[in-house]
Amino acid sequence: MATTASLKIDDKDYPLPVMVGTEGEKAIDTRALRAATGYIAYDQGYGNTGSCESQITYLDGDNGILRHRGIPIEQLAHYSDFVETAYLVIYGELPNQTQRKEFGLRLRKNAAVEMQMQKILEGFPTNASPMAMLSAMVAALPAYHPELATNDFQKDLKNFDLAAAMAISKIRTIVAMIYRYQKGLPFVFPKQELPFCDNFLHMMFSEPYQDYQPVPEVSKALNLLLLLHADHEQNCSTSTTRMVGSSAANLFTSMSAGICALSGPLHGGANVAVMQMLQSIHDEGDDGTRFIAAAKSGSKSNRLMGFGHAVYKNFDPRARIIGDACDTVLAKLGIDDPLLRIAKNLEQAALKDDYFVSRKLYPNVDFYSGIIMRAVGIPMNMFTTMFAIGRAPGYIANWKEVASNPKGRIYRPRQIYVGATKRDYVPIALRG
Ligand code: SDX
Repeated sequence: MATTASLKIDDKDYPLPVMVGTEGEKAIDTRALRAATGYIAYDQGYGNTGSCESQITYLDGDNGILRHRGIPIEQLAHYSDFVETAYLVIYGELPNQTQRKEFGLRLRKNAAVEMQMQKILEGFPTNASPMAMLSAMVAALPAYHPELATNDFQKDLKNFDLAAAMAISKIRTIVAMIYRYQKGLPFVFPKQELPFCDNFLHMMFSEPYQDYQPVPEVSKALNLLLLLHADHEQNCSTSTTRMVGSSAANLFTSMSAGICALSGPLHGGANVAVMQMLQSIHDEGDDGTRFIAAAKSGSKSNRLMGFGHAVYKNFDPRARIIGDACDTVLAKLGIDDPLLRIAKNLEQAALKDDYFVSRKLYPNVDFYSGIIMRAVGIPMNMFTTMFAIGRAPGYIANWKEVASNPKGRIYRPRQIYVGATKRDYVPIALRG
Protein backbone atom coordinates (compact mmCIF):
# COMPACT_ATOMS: atom_id res chain seq x y z
CA MET A 1 0.00 0.00 0.00
CA ALA A 2 1.35 3.47 -0.85
CA THR A 3 2.97 5.30 2.06
CA THR A 4 2.94 8.63 0.26
CA ALA A 5 0.60 10.38 -2.18
CA SER A 6 1.85 12.81 -4.76
CA LEU A 7 0.17 16.12 -5.56
CA LYS A 8 1.14 17.83 -8.79
CA ILE A 9 0.72 21.63 -8.96
CA ASP A 10 2.14 23.60 -11.90
CA ASP A 11 4.42 20.71 -12.90
CA LYS A 12 5.81 20.45 -9.37
CA ASP A 13 5.24 17.26 -7.38
CA TYR A 14 4.49 17.47 -3.67
CA PRO A 15 4.71 14.22 -1.71
CA LEU A 16 2.09 13.89 1.04
CA PRO A 17 2.16 11.17 3.72
CA VAL A 18 -0.56 8.50 3.68
CA MET A 19 -2.16 7.31 6.93
CA VAL A 20 -3.76 3.88 7.26
CA GLY A 21 -6.07 2.96 10.15
CA THR A 22 -6.35 -0.41 11.86
CA GLU A 23 -9.35 -1.26 9.66
CA GLY A 24 -7.55 -0.23 6.48
CA GLU A 25 -9.10 3.24 6.16
CA LYS A 26 -6.73 5.45 4.20
CA ALA A 27 -6.12 9.19 4.46
CA ILE A 28 -3.81 11.69 2.87
CA ASP A 29 -2.19 13.67 5.66
CA THR A 30 -2.61 17.30 4.54
CA ARG A 31 -1.31 18.93 7.72
CA ALA A 32 1.74 20.25 5.84
CA LEU A 33 -0.16 21.10 2.64
CA ARG A 34 -0.49 24.87 3.15
CA ALA A 35 3.11 25.38 4.28
CA ALA A 36 4.41 23.32 1.36
CA THR A 37 2.10 24.55 -1.43
CA GLY A 38 0.20 27.64 -0.22
CA TYR A 39 -2.99 25.67 -0.90
CA ILE A 40 -5.52 24.41 1.66
CA ALA A 41 -7.80 21.40 1.12
CA TYR A 42 -11.48 22.30 0.70
CA ASP A 43 -14.26 19.96 1.84
CA GLN A 44 -17.55 21.69 2.70
CA GLY A 45 -19.10 19.91 5.69
CA TYR A 46 -15.95 17.82 6.15
CA GLY A 47 -17.66 14.79 4.55
CA ASN A 48 -14.32 13.60 3.17
CA THR A 49 -12.03 14.93 5.88
CA GLY A 50 -10.72 13.16 8.97
CA SER A 51 -10.52 15.54 11.94
CA CYS A 52 -8.81 13.11 14.28
CA GLU A 53 -7.49 9.64 14.93
CA SER A 54 -9.88 7.82 17.25
CA GLN A 55 -10.00 4.42 18.93
CA ILE A 56 -13.64 4.50 19.99
CA THR A 57 -15.96 3.59 17.12
CA TYR A 58 -15.47 2.13 13.68
CA LEU A 59 -18.06 2.69 10.95
CA ASP A 60 -18.11 1.13 7.52
CA GLY A 61 -20.97 2.98 5.82
CA ASP A 62 -20.79 0.95 2.62
CA ASN A 63 -21.18 -2.36 4.43
CA GLY A 64 -23.37 -1.21 7.32
CA ILE A 65 -20.77 -2.03 9.97
CA LEU A 66 -20.73 -0.36 13.42
CA ARG A 67 -18.33 -1.46 16.18
CA HIS A 68 -17.52 0.08 19.54
CA ARG A 69 -13.89 -0.61 20.58
CA GLY A 70 -13.96 -3.47 18.06
CA ILE A 71 -17.16 -5.13 19.32
CA PRO A 72 -20.01 -5.29 16.72
CA ILE A 73 -23.14 -3.37 17.66
CA GLU A 74 -25.22 -6.50 17.01
CA GLN A 75 -23.35 -8.37 19.78
CA LEU A 76 -23.62 -5.45 22.21
CA ALA A 77 -27.36 -5.17 21.46
CA HIS A 78 -27.78 -8.89 22.13
CA TYR A 79 -25.55 -9.43 25.16
CA SER A 80 -24.89 -6.03 26.80
CA ASP A 81 -26.82 -3.19 28.38
CA PHE A 82 -26.47 0.59 28.29
CA VAL A 83 -24.29 0.97 31.40
CA GLU A 84 -21.86 -1.77 30.33
CA THR A 85 -21.67 -0.38 26.79
CA ALA A 86 -21.12 3.11 28.20
CA TYR A 87 -18.16 1.75 30.17
CA LEU A 88 -16.77 0.06 27.04
CA VAL A 89 -17.12 3.22 24.93
CA ILE A 90 -15.49 5.41 27.60
CA TYR A 91 -12.72 3.14 28.92
CA GLY A 92 -12.02 0.95 25.90
CA GLU A 93 -12.67 -2.46 27.46
CA LEU A 94 -15.72 -4.31 28.77
CA PRO A 95 -15.71 -3.96 32.58
CA ASN A 96 -14.87 -6.91 34.83
CA GLN A 97 -17.18 -7.61 37.77
CA THR A 98 -15.41 -5.14 40.08
CA GLN A 99 -15.21 -2.39 37.48
CA ARG A 100 -18.87 -2.84 36.58
CA LYS A 101 -19.87 -2.64 40.27
CA GLU A 102 -17.76 0.47 40.91
CA PHE A 103 -19.03 2.21 37.76
CA GLY A 104 -22.63 1.40 38.66
CA LEU A 105 -22.08 2.77 42.16
CA ARG A 106 -20.62 6.02 40.79
CA LEU A 107 -23.69 6.40 38.57
CA ARG A 108 -26.10 5.72 41.44
CA LYS A 109 -24.31 8.02 43.88
CA ASN A 110 -24.27 10.91 41.40
CA ALA A 111 -27.83 10.71 40.14
CA ALA A 112 -29.28 13.58 42.15
CA VAL A 113 -29.27 17.12 40.77
CA GLU A 114 -28.67 20.09 43.05
CA MET A 115 -31.93 21.60 44.27
CA GLN A 116 -30.74 25.08 43.19
CA MET A 117 -30.60 23.88 39.60
CA GLN A 118 -34.37 23.53 39.63
CA LYS A 119 -34.45 27.32 39.44
CA ILE A 120 -32.74 27.15 36.03
CA LEU A 121 -35.57 25.01 34.70
CA GLU A 122 -38.12 27.28 36.31
CA GLY A 123 -36.64 30.15 34.34
CA PHE A 124 -37.92 28.50 31.15
CA PRO A 125 -41.50 28.58 29.90
CA THR A 126 -42.95 25.08 30.39
CA ASN A 127 -43.31 24.73 26.61
CA ALA A 128 -39.65 25.55 25.93
CA SER A 129 -37.57 23.14 23.86
CA PRO A 130 -36.50 20.22 26.10
CA MET A 131 -33.13 20.23 24.31
CA ALA A 132 -32.64 23.92 25.13
CA MET A 133 -33.40 23.19 28.78
CA LEU A 134 -31.09 20.16 28.75
CA SER A 135 -28.14 22.02 27.24
CA ALA A 136 -28.65 24.91 29.69
CA MET A 137 -28.71 22.57 32.68
CA VAL A 138 -25.60 20.70 31.51
CA ALA A 139 -23.83 24.01 30.87
CA ALA A 140 -24.62 24.94 34.50
CA LEU A 141 -23.02 21.79 35.99
CA PRO A 142 -19.49 23.32 36.16
CA ALA A 143 -20.88 26.03 38.45
CA TYR A 144 -21.95 23.37 40.93
CA HIS A 145 -18.88 21.15 40.48
CA PRO A 146 -16.01 23.57 39.79
CA GLU A 147 -13.47 21.03 41.08
CA LEU A 148 -14.41 18.73 38.16
CA ALA A 149 -14.53 21.48 35.54
CA THR A 150 -11.41 23.64 35.91
CA ASN A 151 -10.79 24.02 32.16
CA ASP A 152 -7.29 22.67 32.83
CA PHE A 153 -6.96 19.32 31.05
CA GLN A 154 -4.50 17.85 33.56
CA LYS A 155 -6.70 18.70 36.56
CA ASP A 156 -9.93 17.70 34.80
CA LEU A 157 -8.44 14.37 33.68
CA LYS A 158 -7.50 13.59 37.29
CA ASN A 159 -11.22 13.79 38.16
CA PHE A 160 -12.42 12.27 34.90
CA ASP A 161 -14.03 9.12 36.33
CA LEU A 162 -16.27 11.11 38.65
CA ALA A 163 -17.08 13.76 36.04
CA ALA A 164 -17.95 11.10 33.46
CA ALA A 165 -20.27 9.21 35.82
CA MET A 166 -21.83 12.48 36.93
CA ALA A 167 -22.46 13.58 33.36
CA ILE A 168 -24.17 10.32 32.35
CA SER A 169 -26.21 10.03 35.52
CA LYS A 170 -27.27 13.64 35.86
CA ILE A 171 -28.21 14.04 32.18
CA ARG A 172 -30.61 11.12 32.70
CA THR A 173 -32.03 12.78 35.84
CA ILE A 174 -32.28 16.20 34.19
CA VAL A 175 -34.29 14.74 31.29
CA ALA A 176 -36.78 13.31 33.79
CA MET A 177 -36.90 16.67 35.59
CA ILE A 178 -37.65 18.44 32.30
CA TYR A 179 -40.53 16.04 31.65
CA ARG A 180 -41.98 16.65 35.13
CA TYR A 181 -41.48 20.41 34.85
CA GLN A 182 -43.30 20.56 31.51
CA LYS A 183 -46.19 18.55 32.97
CA GLY A 184 -46.36 20.70 36.10
CA LEU A 185 -45.60 17.63 38.20
CA PRO A 186 -43.39 17.57 41.31
CA PHE A 187 -39.82 16.33 40.72
CA VAL A 188 -39.22 12.70 41.71
CA PHE A 189 -35.85 12.08 43.36
CA PRO A 190 -33.65 9.22 42.15
CA LYS A 191 -33.52 6.01 44.15
CA GLN A 192 -29.95 4.74 44.57
CA GLU A 193 -31.08 1.15 44.69
CA LEU A 194 -32.61 1.21 41.20
CA PRO A 195 -30.72 0.24 38.02
CA PHE A 196 -30.05 3.06 35.53
CA CYS A 197 -33.09 2.72 33.27
CA ASP A 198 -35.52 1.75 36.03
CA ASN A 199 -34.39 4.83 37.96
CA PHE A 200 -35.11 6.96 34.90
CA LEU A 201 -38.60 5.49 34.52
CA HIS A 202 -39.16 5.99 38.26
CA MET A 203 -38.19 9.68 38.04
CA MET A 204 -40.36 10.11 34.96
CA PHE A 205 -43.54 8.30 35.92
CA SER A 206 -43.75 7.68 39.69
CA GLU A 207 -46.40 9.56 41.60
CA PRO A 208 -46.05 10.87 45.20
CA TYR A 209 -47.78 7.83 46.70
CA GLN A 210 -47.42 5.33 43.87
CA ASP A 211 -44.01 4.24 42.60
CA TYR A 212 -43.87 3.37 38.91
CA GLN A 213 -43.36 -0.37 38.48
CA PRO A 214 -41.49 -0.89 35.19
CA VAL A 215 -42.49 -3.85 33.06
CA PRO A 216 -39.25 -5.81 32.31
CA GLU A 217 -39.84 -5.40 28.57
CA VAL A 218 -39.96 -1.62 28.95
CA SER A 219 -36.66 -1.47 30.86
CA LYS A 220 -35.10 -3.83 28.30
CA ALA A 221 -36.35 -1.72 25.38
CA LEU A 222 -35.04 1.46 26.98
CA ASN A 223 -31.67 -0.16 27.64
CA LEU A 224 -31.46 -1.26 24.02
CA LEU A 225 -32.45 2.15 22.70
CA LEU A 226 -29.86 4.00 24.81
CA LEU A 227 -27.19 1.41 24.01
CA LEU A 228 -27.75 1.82 20.27
CA HIS A 229 -27.17 5.58 20.58
CA ALA A 230 -23.99 5.33 22.69
CA ASP A 231 -21.55 6.59 20.06
CA HIS A 232 -21.33 7.04 16.34
CA GLU A 233 -17.90 8.17 15.14
CA GLN A 234 -17.52 11.84 14.20
CA ASN A 235 -21.21 12.75 13.80
CA CYS A 236 -22.19 16.40 13.95
CA SER A 237 -22.75 16.61 17.73
CA THR A 238 -19.77 14.49 18.71
CA SER A 239 -17.51 16.56 16.48
CA THR A 240 -18.97 19.66 18.12
CA THR A 241 -18.10 18.25 21.54
CA ARG A 242 -14.55 17.62 20.34
CA MET A 243 -14.34 21.09 18.75
CA VAL A 244 -15.36 22.82 21.99
CA GLY A 245 -13.19 20.48 24.09
CA SER A 246 -10.19 21.31 21.94
CA SER A 247 -10.25 24.83 23.41
CA ALA A 248 -9.60 23.15 26.82
CA ALA A 249 -13.23 23.68 27.81
CA ASN A 250 -14.29 21.18 30.50
CA LEU A 251 -16.33 18.07 29.86
CA PHE A 252 -19.74 19.47 30.87
CA THR A 253 -19.36 22.65 28.80
CA SER A 254 -18.26 20.63 25.78
CA MET A 255 -21.19 18.22 26.15
CA SER A 256 -23.63 21.11 26.41
CA ALA A 257 -22.43 22.30 22.99
CA GLY A 258 -22.82 18.77 21.61
CA ILE A 259 -26.40 18.68 22.90
CA CYS A 260 -27.13 21.91 21.05
CA ALA A 261 -25.83 20.38 17.81
CA LEU A 262 -27.85 17.21 18.40
CA SER A 263 -31.09 19.18 18.58
CA GLY A 264 -31.19 19.92 14.84
CA PRO A 265 -33.86 18.05 12.78
CA LEU A 266 -31.22 16.76 10.35
CA HIS A 267 -29.45 15.08 13.27
CA GLY A 268 -30.85 14.05 16.65
CA GLY A 269 -34.07 15.95 16.06
CA ALA A 270 -34.94 13.55 13.25
CA ASN A 271 -36.59 11.06 15.61
CA VAL A 272 -39.25 13.69 16.39
CA ALA A 273 -39.53 14.63 12.70
CA VAL A 274 -40.09 10.95 11.81
CA MET A 275 -43.01 10.63 14.22
CA GLN A 276 -44.51 13.92 13.03
CA MET A 277 -44.20 12.59 9.47
CA LEU A 278 -45.82 9.25 10.34
CA GLN A 279 -48.60 10.95 12.29
CA SER A 280 -49.39 13.34 9.44
CA ILE A 281 -49.50 10.43 6.98
CA HIS A 282 -51.86 8.61 9.34
CA ASP A 283 -54.06 11.68 9.90
CA GLU A 284 -54.37 12.18 6.12
CA GLY A 285 -55.47 8.57 5.70
CA ASP A 286 -52.48 8.03 3.41
CA ASP A 287 -50.58 4.73 3.45
CA GLY A 288 -47.35 6.55 2.65
CA THR A 289 -47.67 6.53 -1.14
CA ARG A 290 -48.36 10.24 -1.47
CA PHE A 291 -45.60 11.03 1.00
CA ILE A 292 -43.02 8.98 -0.88
CA ALA A 293 -43.88 10.88 -4.05
CA ALA A 294 -43.38 14.22 -2.25
CA ALA A 295 -40.12 13.01 -0.67
CA LYS A 296 -38.68 12.46 -4.12
CA SER A 297 -39.03 16.13 -4.97
CA GLY A 298 -35.53 16.65 -3.52
CA SER A 299 -36.56 19.60 -1.36
CA LYS A 300 -35.15 19.44 2.17
CA SER A 301 -38.60 20.26 3.57
CA ASN A 302 -40.19 17.12 2.07
CA ARG A 303 -37.56 14.60 2.98
CA LEU A 304 -38.42 11.09 4.13
CA MET A 305 -37.26 11.66 7.69
CA GLY A 306 -35.34 8.80 9.26
CA PHE A 307 -34.01 7.88 5.83
CA GLY A 308 -30.56 8.57 4.45
CA HIS A 309 -27.27 9.05 6.21
CA ALA A 310 -24.11 11.01 5.71
CA VAL A 311 -22.01 7.85 6.17
CA TYR A 312 -24.21 4.76 5.77
CA LYS A 313 -24.83 4.05 2.10
CA ASN A 314 -26.25 0.73 3.19
CA PHE A 315 -28.59 -0.19 6.04
CA ASP A 316 -27.85 1.54 9.36
CA PRO A 317 -27.37 -1.60 11.51
CA ARG A 318 -29.06 0.18 14.39
CA ALA A 319 -32.22 0.66 12.31
CA ARG A 320 -32.45 -3.09 11.70
CA ILE A 321 -32.06 -3.84 15.40
CA ILE A 322 -34.60 -1.21 16.49
CA GLY A 323 -37.01 -2.23 13.74
CA ASP A 324 -36.95 -5.84 14.99
CA ALA A 325 -37.27 -4.68 18.60
CA CYS A 326 -40.38 -2.66 17.71
CA ASP A 327 -42.27 -5.81 16.81
CA THR A 328 -41.16 -7.60 20.00
CA VAL A 329 -41.77 -4.72 22.42
CA LEU A 330 -45.16 -3.69 21.01
CA ALA A 331 -46.34 -7.31 20.94
CA LYS A 332 -45.24 -7.86 24.57
CA LEU A 333 -46.94 -4.64 25.62
CA GLY A 334 -50.02 -5.49 23.60
CA ILE A 335 -49.74 -2.27 21.60
CA ASP A 336 -51.02 -2.10 18.04
CA ASP A 337 -49.49 1.16 16.78
CA PRO A 338 -50.77 2.15 13.30
CA LEU A 339 -47.66 4.30 12.87
CA LEU A 340 -45.51 1.16 12.92
CA ARG A 341 -47.49 -0.25 9.99
CA ILE A 342 -47.07 3.03 8.11
CA ALA A 343 -43.33 3.03 8.87
CA LYS A 344 -42.97 -0.50 7.53
CA ASN A 345 -45.00 0.40 4.42
CA LEU A 346 -42.74 3.41 3.83
CA GLU A 347 -39.62 1.30 4.27
CA GLN A 348 -40.82 -1.38 1.87
CA ALA A 349 -41.92 1.19 -0.73
CA ALA A 350 -38.71 3.22 -0.51
CA LEU A 351 -36.46 0.16 -0.73
CA LYS A 352 -38.08 -0.71 -4.06
CA ASP A 353 -38.04 2.85 -5.41
CA ASP A 354 -35.13 3.78 -7.64
CA TYR A 355 -35.02 7.32 -6.28
CA PHE A 356 -33.99 5.99 -2.86
CA VAL A 357 -32.07 2.96 -4.07
CA SER A 358 -29.98 4.98 -6.55
CA ARG A 359 -29.11 7.49 -3.82
CA LYS A 360 -28.41 4.67 -1.32
CA LEU A 361 -31.00 6.00 1.09
CA TYR A 362 -31.90 3.46 3.78
CA PRO A 363 -33.58 3.72 7.17
CA ASN A 364 -31.31 5.20 9.84
CA VAL A 365 -31.36 4.95 13.62
CA ASP A 366 -34.16 7.52 13.87
CA PHE A 367 -36.65 5.76 11.62
CA TYR A 368 -38.06 3.34 14.20
CA SER A 369 -36.73 4.69 17.50
CA GLY A 370 -39.73 6.96 18.07
CA ILE A 371 -42.14 4.00 17.83
CA ILE A 372 -40.41 2.31 20.76
CA MET A 373 -40.13 5.49 22.80
CA ARG A 374 -43.84 6.13 22.31
CA ALA A 375 -44.58 2.56 23.41
CA VAL A 376 -42.49 3.15 26.55
CA GLY A 377 -44.55 6.27 27.28
CA ILE A 378 -41.98 8.93 26.38
CA PRO A 379 -43.71 11.99 24.86
CA MET A 380 -42.58 12.94 21.37
CA ASN A 381 -41.07 16.26 22.32
CA MET A 382 -38.68 14.38 24.64
CA PHE A 383 -37.36 11.95 22.01
CA THR A 384 -34.23 13.92 21.22
CA THR A 385 -33.36 14.27 24.90
CA MET A 386 -33.44 10.44 25.02
CA PHE A 387 -30.94 10.44 22.18
CA ALA A 388 -28.77 12.75 24.33
CA ILE A 389 -28.86 10.36 27.29
CA GLY A 390 -27.78 7.55 24.97
CA ARG A 391 -25.04 9.58 23.28
CA ALA A 392 -23.50 10.90 26.53
CA PRO A 393 -20.88 8.08 26.69
CA GLY A 394 -19.76 8.91 23.14
CA TYR A 395 -19.40 12.61 23.91
CA ILE A 396 -17.44 11.74 27.07
CA ALA A 397 -15.11 9.27 25.34
CA ASN A 398 -14.39 11.73 22.52
CA TRP A 399 -13.78 14.62 24.93
CA LYS A 400 -11.32 12.40 26.80
CA GLU A 401 -9.43 11.63 23.57
CA VAL A 402 -9.10 15.36 22.93
CA ALA A 403 -8.12 16.19 26.52
CA SER A 404 -5.53 13.42 26.79
CA ASN A 405 -3.87 13.95 23.41
CA PRO A 406 -0.40 15.37 24.15
CA LYS A 407 -0.12 16.55 20.53
CA GLY A 408 -3.66 17.90 20.47
CA ARG A 409 -4.39 21.29 18.89
CA ILE A 410 -7.36 23.62 19.02
CA TYR A 411 -9.76 22.85 16.15
CA ARG A 412 -9.44 25.80 13.80
CA PRO A 413 -10.49 25.07 10.18
CA ARG A 414 -9.59 27.49 7.39
CA GLN A 415 -11.85 28.85 4.63
CA ILE A 416 -11.86 30.17 1.11
CA TYR A 417 -12.90 33.81 1.23
CA VAL A 418 -15.36 34.74 -1.51
CA GLY A 419 -16.50 38.12 -0.21
CA ALA A 420 -15.79 41.69 -1.35
CA THR A 421 -12.20 42.53 -2.25
CA LYS A 422 -10.44 45.54 -0.66
CA ARG A 423 -12.50 48.77 -0.73
CA ASP A 424 -12.57 52.05 1.24
CA TYR A 425 -14.93 53.24 3.94
CA VAL A 426 -17.68 55.57 2.68
CA PRO A 427 -19.16 58.15 5.09
CA ILE A 428 -22.90 57.71 5.56
CA ALA A 429 -23.65 61.09 3.96
CA LEU A 430 -22.13 59.83 0.70
CA ARG A 431 -23.86 56.46 0.64
CA GLY A 432 -26.74 55.84 -1.76
C1 SDX B 1 -28.48 10.96 12.63
O1 SDX B 1 -23.73 11.39 11.40
C2 SDX B 1 -24.30 10.52 12.14
O2 SDX B 1 -23.75 9.47 12.43
C3 SDX B 1 -25.67 10.90 12.64
C4 SDX B 1 -26.40 9.81 13.43
C5 SDX B 1 -25.74 9.57 14.77
O3 SDX B 1 -25.93 8.47 15.32
O4 SDX B 1 -25.12 10.52 15.33
O5 SDX B 1 -26.46 8.61 12.69
C6 SDX B 1 -27.83 10.25 13.76
O6 SDX B 1 -28.39 12.17 12.57
C7 SDX B 1 -29.16 10.15 11.55
C8 SDX B 1 -29.71 11.03 10.39
C9 SDX B 1 -31.03 11.63 10.87
N1 SDX B 1 -31.52 12.61 9.90
C10 SDX B 1 -32.60 12.31 9.11
O7 SDX B 1 -33.16 11.22 9.07
C11 SDX B 1 -33.05 13.49 8.24
C12 SDX B 1 -33.38 12.97 6.83
N2 SDX B 1 -32.10 12.60 6.17
C13 SDX B 1 -31.38 13.64 5.57
O8 SDX B 1 -31.73 14.92 5.54
C14 SDX B 1 -30.03 13.25 4.97
O9 SDX B 1 -30.12 11.97 4.49
C15 SDX B 1 -28.87 13.39 5.91
C16 SDX B 1 -28.79 14.78 6.45
C17 SDX B 1 -28.98 12.42 7.02
C18 SDX B 1 -27.60 13.08 5.13
O10 SDX B 1 -27.47 14.05 4.20
P1 SDX B 1 -26.31 13.98 3.09
O11 SDX B 1 -25.46 12.77 3.21
O12 SDX B 1 -25.63 15.31 3.13
O13 SDX B 1 -27.13 13.73 1.80
P2 SDX B 1 -27.49 14.87 0.85
O14 SDX B 1 -28.25 15.90 1.61
O15 SDX B 1 -26.25 15.25 0.12
O16 SDX B 1 -28.51 14.12 -0.15
C19 SDX B 1 -28.03 13.31 -1.21
C20 SDX B 1 -29.24 13.11 -2.12
C21 SDX B 1 -29.95 14.42 -2.45
O17 SDX B 1 -30.62 14.21 -3.68
P3 SDX B 1 -29.90 14.80 -5.04
O18 SDX B 1 -29.49 16.24 -4.75
O19 SDX B 1 -28.70 13.88 -5.26
O20 SDX B 1 -30.96 14.67 -6.12
O21 SDX B 1 -30.21 12.31 -1.43
C22 SDX B 1 -31.39 13.09 -1.23
C23 SDX B 1 -31.00 14.53 -1.39
O22 SDX B 1 -32.12 15.30 -1.79
N3 SDX B 1 -31.82 12.77 0.13
C24 SDX B 1 -33.08 12.52 0.46
C25 SDX B 1 -33.04 12.20 1.83
N4 SDX B 1 -31.78 12.27 2.28
C26 SDX B 1 -31.02 12.63 1.21
N5 SDX B 1 -34.22 12.55 -0.27
C27 SDX B 1 -35.37 12.24 0.41
N6 SDX B 1 -35.41 11.90 1.73
C28 SDX B 1 -34.26 11.89 2.46
N7 SDX B 1 -34.31 11.56 3.75
